[in-house]
Amino acid sequence: MLRVTVCVSGGGTNLQAIIDRIADGTIRNAQIVQVVCNNPGAFALERAAKAGIPACCVSPKDYPDREAFHEALLAKINEAAPDLIVLAGFMVAVPHQVCAAYAGRIINIHPALIPSFCGKGHYGLHVHEKALERGVKVTGATVHFVDEDLDTGPIILQKAVDIQEDDTPQTLQRRVMEQAEWIILPRAIDLIAQGRVRIEGRRTRILDAAD
Ligand code: GAR
Repeated sequence: MLRVTVCVSGGGTNLQAIIDRIADGTIRNAQIVQVVCNNPGAFALERAAKAGIPACCVSPKDYPDREAFHEALLAKINEAAPDLIVLAGFMVAVPHQVCAAYAGRIINIHPALIPSFCGKGHYGLHVHEKALERGVKVTGATVHFVDEDLDTGPIILQKAVDIQEDDTPQTLQRRVMEQAEWIILPRAIDLIAQGRVRIEGRRTRILDAAD
């Protein structure tokens, strides 16, 4: 059974998608052992409580400096000894300590088709504002492994979503979630739990079920 820590900061709809897809058997051989949040007011914490999943808050406001916050985050994650860390709307750059301790075992959902609209300043609603500003006709979402830089790790899955003439950042965000994020994030976790994702340099290879 793959032990999964999910890191969240806000509404937690991606967390909910993972919870639901484990419950209905779409994600096999995985369990969420811990939810970690950096924001005490996040609705994601209520979702975890409702699902009976142990959840905790590690807020930077409770620590004297960034380094102490980063150490506390790593210590909290280590308590659960996860096989996989899933960043599901986690608005904290992953500290180098966590990257080093869990290299190749951290994945992130990003609400655009990387390498478009990613990197510094591209998170949450801003990503969709920038896509609309630039006038692209297609956007989407990406699940990728996390490395030391922002949004640069090997890509696991992507799904495209059409932009509509009358889209606002909010309508686009919702459609990208519904048509892409809530599908490919659970799918990536299932593939990893089945041992079907291999990192090969900057790329990943998805192995056939029979391999
Ligand atoms: C999601 O759209 C996720 O892709 C995005 O934040 C939102 C969180 O929503 N993540 C990033 O922008 C990371 N760079 P949720 O809390 O409802 O899952």
